[in-house]
Amino acid sequence: MGTRKITRRQAITAASAGALGTFVNWSMPSFGIGTTDQQKLAINGGPKVHPGSWPEWPVWDQTADKGIMEMLHSGRWWRAVGDHIGEFEKKYAELMGVKRCLGMASGSTALMTSMKALGVDAGDEVIVSPFTFIASYNVIFMMKALPVFADTDPETFLIDPSTIESRITERTTAIIPVHIYGLPCDMDSINAIAKKHNLKVIEDACQAWLAEYKGKKTGTFGDAGCYSFHNTKNLPAGEAGAIVSDNDGFMDRCNSIHNCGRPYGSIKRTSSYPIAGTNFRMQQIQAMILLSQMKRIIKDADIRLENAMYLDAKLKEIPGIVPHKLANGATRSAYHLYPFRYKKEEFGDVPRDRFIRALNAEGVPCSSGYGPQNKDGLIEDQLTSKGYKRLFSEARINQWREENVLPGNDQLCNEAVIFYHSMLLGSRSDMEDIVKAITKIYENRAELKA
Ligand SMILES: Cc1ncc(COP(=O)(O)O)c(C=O)c1O
Repeated sequence: MGTRKITRRQAITAASAGALGTFVNWSMPSFGIGTTDQQKLAINGGPKVHPGSWPEWPVWDQTADKGIMEMLHSGRWWRAVGDHIGEFEKKYAELMGVKRCLGMASGSTALMTSMKALGVDAGDEVIVSPFTFIASYNVIFMMKALPVFADTDPETFLIDPSTIESRITERTTAIIPVHIYGLPCDMDSINAIAKKHNLKVIEDACQAWLAEYKGKKTGTFGDAGCYSFHNTKNLPAGEAGAIVSDNDGFMDRCNSIHNCGRPYGSIKRTSSYPIAGTNFRMQQIQAMILLSQMKRIIKDADIRLENAMYLDAKLKEIPGIVPHKLANGATRSAYHLYPFRYKKEEFGDVPRDRFIRALNAEGVPCSSGYGPQNKDGLIEDQLTSKGYKRLFSEARINQWREENVLPGNDQLCNEAVIFYHSMLLGSRSDMEDIVKAITKIYENRAELKA
């Protein structure tokens, strides 16, 4: 802890949230202030509401040191020569309330392996949430399939199930709903559409570890649930990921695919490598870090939830600040980020980026989150590539362009503001400072406009 400058980690978080964040250095000098609304805004030289620091992330548990050193000295580092990955898989499956878990190198490799195991192939189409990190649709390009974006409900920040069906074609094989920021999607509606059209559902739960839908963990409703344990995540290991499912045949296929296609379980030895696969394996050290981090995950999730509920209740009282709404059936958010919408009309038309700068200046780090990823330049590069021209007709790609109009998502991308999850591990007084800082900005909005 302690006052600090913006770190590489925070910069990475901003990037992971769409690289559009307006993080500023909040290690400014303290003015030892009170916080009345009469005070000048910090962005204009006034005192900061929150001159102190915020909880650091990740937090190392030194009781893991000994075991990790022993494992390193043993030279038993990769999957086949140790027990730590198996132990992690057993404990993570228990935590999620599911039969099986497979440790992976990352969330991206978990998504790709799931798609491959569920039959997503070159030339297929996959419907995906647009309000997400780039990885959610980049993995579809990696499978040489076409990502088709459904729209976002700006109130929930999540895929709007009513916009999925019109995007299904005879090539559609799967839907990837993303539980972004740890907010659970409306899984019943999504699964009903998938069932009707015989599609697979792969939950991108890469930001949603203990979120719940109808009292069950996100990642356990589709054909596969995929998680990320990147350094910034609520369950961090530097890099790593996992797939969960109750389906033994599917999990055997995933195991085989992620291990260069070696036989596993029901995937029998027809040759040395019976299935096309690659190396997406977890390392022993990643599993050991995860096992140590899992000791705190439930307690941390409870603290985040309590603080988020406090913020929801207080922030919704401020005109122009709209906390997220739970989707139908969602019962608990995991808060990888705490999101709300900023309505500039209520703030005298002060643009959101200026509000974000003002809030950062008050000592409350925040950013804008994802931009309109469906308009990302890399998508056109892919669609006009040699391979995609072979896989998809010009008529289909033109139709894709015409339909790639997402008013709900555009609205959200203009209004969203987010706090990083470790801030929610702060004290009640830290949460009060967030509310005070936004209230101060609201009450002094004329000063901000000037
Ligand atoms: C929503 C989402 N999907 C997928 C991923 C990919 O996970 P990883 O970075 O572990 O490959 C991430 C990671 O940041 C993510 O946030």
